[in-house]
Amino acid sequence: MFPEKIEAFLQKFERATVGHFPTPIEKLSGTFPASSGPNVYIKRDDCTGLGLGGNKTRKLEYLIADAMKRGYTTIFTTGGIQSNHARQTAAMAAKCNLDCELFLTPVAGTPERNYKDNGNVLLDELFGAKIRICEDEKQVDVRMEERAQELGADNVYIVPIGGSNPIGSLGYIRCAQEILEQSQQAGISFDAIVIATGSCGTQAGLVAGLEIAGVNTPVYGYCVSRDGDEQAGLVMELLERCSEEIGTPENPHRLSAL
Ligand SMILES: Cc1ncc(COP(=O)(O)O)c(C=O)c1O
Repeated sequence: MFPEKIEAFLQKFERATVGHFPTPIEKLSGTFPASSGPNVYIKRDDCTGLGLGGNKTRKLEYLIADAMKRGYTTIFTTGGIQSNHARQTAAMAAKCNLDCELFLTPVAGTPERNYKDNGNVLLDELFGAKIRICEDEKQVDVRMEERAQELGADNVYIVPIGGSNPIGSLGYIRCAQEILEQSQQAGISFDAIVIATGSCGTQAGLVAGLEIAGVNTPVYGYCVSRDGDEQAGLVMELLERCSEEIGTPENPHRLSAL
């Protein structure tokens, strides 16, 4: 395995160094009887150190660096009303002295008061973000467009839902390097990486990063939003965009790793 190849690949991209990295890898004890079952380790990306942590810090380090390099002053993003991604985007914008507007949509069947005013919404406001509640994703697009016109389109950088585009995926390419270095240091060889997958950037970034390092550890994604075939298709699409837009290697065997 060659984690240094990932480091060389990432050198051409700017990164806002805000998160606390590397996050630890801890062995879970007590999950299986010691003599049966696999050893399970957890990569503590809840400890990424930005606005209560979470996996979006890694993506936002590259997305916000891109926005700043290109002179944008306002960040837009979207998600559900209690979106962790929106909360982390608001924290990142505050940290980097950028304005932030969040276009949030309700999730059906959620309780009213705390859902609308508390938790991440409260944090979004404390981080100084403006919240704009939209009925659905269609309305998000319309209102973002209108608001971008008001502010001047040249000022507005749109972070996609979940921070998942090729630039955001760089964060998880870098995470692959971190995992490989930690595995070398600890003398542990991981048989598989298992993650939650939703907007796809985490899985695409890890798969692309491992490919760059010449490692074929499978990355299994578990999705609560859609079925496996549809999700695999979306991850593949993002991997293809990564090849086109940021120059990750093309690899026809990728699907076997999903
Ligand atoms: C802890 C955690 N892991 C993984 C994911 C999925 O990441 P992605 O949206 O990049 O597919 C999420 C999504 O919010 C998450 O919160």
